[in-house]
Amino acid sequence: MHTTPRRALLAALYLLPAVTSYDVVREYSGNSFFDRWDFYGSYDNLTLGDVWWLDQPNATQQGLAYVDGNGRAVMRVDNTTNVPWNYKRNSIRITSQDFYDVGSLWVIDLTHIPYGCSVWPAFWTKGPLWPNDGEIDIIEAINLEDHNQYALHTTGGCVRPEGTVQTGALGPTDCSLGSGCVVSETKPNSYSSGFTQMGGGVYATQFDVAGIFIWFWSRADVPQSLLQANSTSSIDISQWGIPSASYPASGCNITNYFTSQQLVFDITLCGDWAGVPSIYQAACNASGPTGICYNDNVVGNGSNYDEAYFEVNYLRAYTTTAAPAATPSASQGVSVPVISATGSLAGPTGINTSPNGAGTKGGNGAVTLGSSVVAAGLVAAASFVLVLLL
Ligand SMILES: *[C@@H]1O[C@H](CO)[C@@H](O)[C@H](O)[C@H]1NC(C)=O
Ligand SMILES: *[C@@H]1O[C@H](CO)[C@@H](O)[C@H](O)[C@H]1NC(C)=O
Ligand SMILES: *[C@@H]1O[C@H](CO)[C@@H](O)[C@H](O)[C@H]1NC(C)=O
Ligand SMILES: *[C@@H]1O[C@H](CO)[C@@H](O)[C@H](O)[C@H]1NC(C)=O
Ligand SMILES: *[C@@H]1O[C@H](CO)[C@@H](O)[C@H](O)[C@H]1NC(C)=O
Ligand SMILES: *[C@@H]1O[C@H](CO)[C@@H](O)[C@H](O)[C@H]1NC(C)=O
Ligand SMILES: *[C@@H]1O[C@H](CO)[C@@H](O)[C@H](O)[C@H]1NC(C)=O
Repeated sequence: MHTTPRRALLAALYLLPAVTSYDVVREYSGNSFFDRWDFYGSYDNLTLGDVWWLDQPNATQQGLAYVDGNGRAVMRVDNTTNVPWNYKRNSIRITSQDFYDVGSLWVIDLTHIPYGCSVWPAFWTKGPLWPNDGEIDIIEAINLEDHNQYALHTTGGCVRPEGTVQTGALGPTDCSLGSGCVVSETKPNSYSSGFTQMGGGVYATQFDVAGIFIWFWSRADVPQSLLQANSTSSIDISQWGIPSASYPASGCNITNYFTSQQLVFDITLCGDWAGVPSIYQAACNASGPTGICYNDNVVGNGSNYDEAYFEVNYLRAYTTTAAPAATPSASQGVSVPVISATGSLAGPTGINTSPNGAGTKGGNGAVTLGSSVVAAGLVAAASFVLVLLL
């Protein structure tokens, strides 16, 4: 097969780099981990869990948010206080003062995620107004589940399209309804005791105009690019493979449904997911005599919350590096990942408020499409435009 100039040009286009290179914007780790977060300082008025999310002075004083001897950030449910009936148990919810635009990548390396009957942890992102500004659930599970679940929550019109490429198991496709567009992790040890026993792992989320893509690796499978990365180095994600969950822009125009996002960690107990009687009883009825999440778990000496803590090695926020070289005609024809180029911090702002919208944190879900796959699709589209021009 001889190669015409046009074919050569197309071949070259296919080889264009996608958005695979990222620069560090900020690392949250070690003794400075808690420097740039707002602690909630209220009872759980969002997911109706039986906790009081402490303000920072109380959280620190009570030893529920601290950096341990290994330099890991720990956020935990109180497991030392005897809580009488009709009272709530203390826990943590923190929201980043930093906002991150489309064009960001977040990588979190943990050694422990909260679990156990009544426990409902989440590491997620949100815009200021819910659901208008979008929500991305990166780590979320309840009770005795053995796997993580991903989801987006948006206003109507954002879906996970047919034919997405991902390794996770498909749940609902409509991101605006109920639990959102859920994808369940199918790789082993993404949550619960298995996660801990394997040494934890890494979750990475690409928030791009091309879509939202989430990867998980158990400790033994963490890719070289991450093993070699440090708090200042750039990272190349081109070898990360197919994501666990993919939400390509073909089903959800990211810039229309998501504004700049804040990062959130929270742990609640019971509430409107973990504590729903049918859901709770199916997994945890053996936890106590009443079959009621609150009575059989929250009340009492708290010794059942020894595993209800996050332990984080680091959380890094990245932004896309310079746009890859696309021909003018190609980049005119498609709004490619190229555009996500410099998305970065919308504002360190240190606003000390943001009790975080009335976010319902109720969902889980996710989809699939490797960034390379996405990139290939977009490049293919670019090629198509080019063909027309030729
Ligand atoms: C923090 O502690 C102070 C003093 O004990 C108390 O008045 C306040 O209500 C506490 N706030 C929270 C959110 O627990
Ligand atoms: C991070 O890695 C880069 C090389 O990728 C190196 O130049 C730099 O010194 C490293 N920084 C730290 C803090 O180790
Ligand atoms: C998303 O919508 C905006 C305007 O509504 C449009 O300019 C943009 O091209 C769309 N992006 C994609 C990836 O379709
Ligand atoms: C859970 O336990 C309660 C109290 O014993 C009981 O009434 C309920 O039927 C049980 N539910 C299930 C699903 O077993
Ligand atoms: C805490 O309470 C449970 C029963 O609710 C009991 O089995 C356990 O021994 C208690 N632990 C302590 C340290 O008192
Ligand atoms: C609380 O849990 C931790 C493990 O997460 C454990 O080291 C500690 O002893 C527990 N506290 C009590 C009072 O049991
Ligand atoms: C929840 O409580 C916070 C802090 O008091 C408040 O700012 C926020 O408006 C409340 N949200 C809802 C949905 O009630």
